Amino acid sequence: MRRPIVVGNWKMHGSRADNARLIEELGAQYPPDPAADCVVCPPFVYLQEVGRMLRDTPIHLGAQDVCADNQGAFTGEVSAAMLKDVGCEYAIVGHSERRLLYRESDQLVARKFAAAHSKALIPILCVGEQLSDREAGRTAEVVQRQLDVVLELCGAETLGHGAVAYEPVWAIGTGRNASPEQAQEVHALIRARIGVRDARIAAATRILYGGSVKASNAAELFAMPDVDGGLIGGASLKADEFLAILAAAG
Ligand code: PGA
Repeated sequence: MRRPIVVGNWKMHGSRADNARLIEELGAQYPPDPAADCVVCPPFVYLQEVGRMLRDTPIHLGAQDVCADNQGAFTGEVSAAMLKDVGCEYAIVGHSERRLLYRESDQLVARKFAAAHSKALIPILCVGEQLSDREAGRTAEVVQRQLDVVLELCGAETLGHGAVAYEPVWAIGTGRNASPEQAQEVHALIRARIGVRDARIAAATRILYGGSVKASNAAELFAMPDVDGGLIGGASLKADEFLAILAAAG
């Protein structure tokens, strides 16, 4: 059985005051025994403080990115060891905003996945096609390529220690989510691709859907057999929305 997981990606939002309010609201309404794991990923500068606020809660701490290198002259970067040191358990790698706005290649993303894993963080690998890819019938090709580079560098065993998030770029922050059937099709494809290397690992790997998930559409997306939770952007900044999504995952 794969335990579902709901991850809040706060992106570049928040302030110390906003974060404290959000964590307090989450804590106040948090279900006693949720059937899904919950992670929040604040901006780097707030990780330690948010981590402290989460200490007595079942909510886990994650980073939105990680450096592919371990230490040295990499101005502006944050290593996996540093993230671990301040209490992170998860790290998102290869978010489409990083791939597109900061030109992160499939190879760099794979190295980030390996770096996170090597310091015992749980990497969440984001994959997903752009609208033009989908319209040209290239969704499978793009997603498989993004996945294969990580499988090649890290192997199925290491991939299985992390999670995969399918995030169609056209659905991120647009209010236009993939239909449950569209999501399921790609999730099944991702699982099958991992399964070519190792069927056991494929069956155990958590594959999250991301892209305009809200309280109102979460249940139908999470009801799909290969959708094991979600990576939530905008809706993770509102406690009641995020908790409703968490409830839908359980
Ligand atoms: P969204 O973002 O939920 O705001 O569409 C999802 C993501 O980018 O992870």
